[in-house]
Amino acid sequence: MQRKPFFYDITLRDGNQSLKKPWSLEEKIFIFDKIVQLGINAVELGFPASSEMDFEACQTLANMADEKTLVSVLARAHKNDIDRALLAIKDAKLARIHTFITLSPFHMEHVLNKKPDEIAQIAINAVEYADSAIKKMNKNFDIEFSVEHFGDCRENLDFVIETLKEIVKKGATTINLPNTVERYRPKIFVEMVEKVKNALGDNVTISVHNHNDLGMATATTVEAYFAGATQLECCLNGLGERAGNTDFNQVAISLHNCGVEMDIDLSKIYETSLIISQMSKVKIYEKAPLVGPEALAHRSGIHQDGAIKTKEMDFGAYRPIHPSLIGRYDDEKIGFTSQSGKTAIYDIIKALKYPITIQESIRLTPVAKHLAEKKGELTNDEILDLYFSEICDIKGDFELISFKPIEKNIFDLIFNYKNEKKEVIGIGNGPLDACLNGLKKLGFKIDLSHYKQYSLDGDEKGSSAQAMSEIFISDAKNNLIIARAIDTSTAQANVKAVFNALNLSEF
Ligand code: KIV
Ligand code: ZN
Repeated sequence: MQRKPFFYDITLRDGNQSLKKPWSLEEKIFIFDKIVQLGINAVELGFPASSEMDFEACQTLANMADEKTLVSVLARAHKNDIDRALLAIKDAKLARIHTFITLSPFHMEHVLNKKPDEIAQIAINAVEYADSAIKKMNKNFDIEFSVEHFGDCRENLDFVIETLKEIVKKGATTINLPNTVERYRPKIFVEMVEKVKNALGDNVTISVHNHNDLGMATATTVEAYFAGATQLECCLNGLGERAGNTDFNQVAISLHNCGVEMDIDLSKIYETSLIISQMSKVKIYEKAPLVGPEALAHRSGIHQDGAIKTKEMDFGAYRPIHPSLIGRYDDEKIGFTSQSGKTAIYDIIKALKYPITIQESIRLTPVAKHLAEKKGELTNDEILDLYFSEICDIKGDFELISFKPIEKNIFDLIFNYKNEKKEVIGIGNGPLDACLNGLKKLGFKIDLSHYKQYSLDGDEKGSSAQAMSEIFISDAKNNLIIARAIDTSTAQANVKAVFNALNLSEF
């Protein structure tokens, strides 16, 4: 069995700092609760030295958190930030201080304007200071150190590793390796993570924190986990600076699909994602994996067929998970376009609770495709309109004018055939039988093999104001014809269904 990933949420810190309107304390409290409900192991609450507001939020949340959720606060690698951070978490039950500085050659030279050894010493001193301050407070808080811009440290990785060994000696127990700006391939980053992991050994927790500048943060994080990183820093909905941080949902589901056990309540993912989108005012884009409005839509005929055949199964033909795994209960959407096929028509009409057979959906498909070529995707109402006009009211050589009772079991049937008026008296065991007998007298012989009555909500013999008759007949050329019709009167629905069948028959 794989070791459990330790999910470390950065929504309230990296996510929040990137919002157009950062969250208020009340909003942070609400979101913190959602993160805890998801079963996420650790939550970075904020950056206490950045503002009074952030300090207050960190302190409030740190005091609220129970002993099962590790709370963490960010501090730059200097004394003032560390003091402020420790003050914010001093009454927490299970807490961490997270300090960081860059060790990337580019960043050290062009942003900090300092020599590598000088910066390494700042990092080592900061961890040593945090460790002694924690000991003085008599707390068993732990220390995370981040190599900001670790992804840019390819050329000086040996120097980074040596510095990290010192940092670990001074008390850091988690080493976080951020891809602060995603520039290269996941493999390059993952190999660097592997080297650090091998150099630092098993007593240090390796963490990754990947930004999504090239859209590969999920892949990088998942592969880093398999290369030895246990702590995975993720953001709900992939919020975060620029193109965001690693999306929590995607990582959790990828690992779940690979058989990795975790503490996460996956069934809360969808709802939480909608809440975060609403609260951050960052829309979930249409095609967002797992939670996007279009993530369960199938439009090509082949995909629709596979999706419908495997709808109830955990392993779907064209989806990565059963949507209920993440608490998503809107059905896989079958959208009808010019690329779609008979299975889509069948499924849509069935979902709307109207009866239809595959033969009928085959008949309806070209008409619907033709309309969709002009209009794009058809709405369910448009498909239903086609069903009523093309399936329940078929135009042709036969045109019913009237069918009226004369006396019990005797009916007067009047219709046009090829624009010529015909009238006949039909006698039979009920209206349908009388109609068929009348037609037979005029040479239109059809054999009825199946008859069924529906109310319009699809229940058999229900009490709907409208009745639907469904009949199967064999025509003179032995074709099986399926026809149906709707009317407020059952007798009229029967006769209309017969005329629809006649218009589909060959004589
Ligand atoms: O992206 C980054 O490097 C960070 C660090 C502060 C961990 O957010
Ligand atoms: Zn970051």
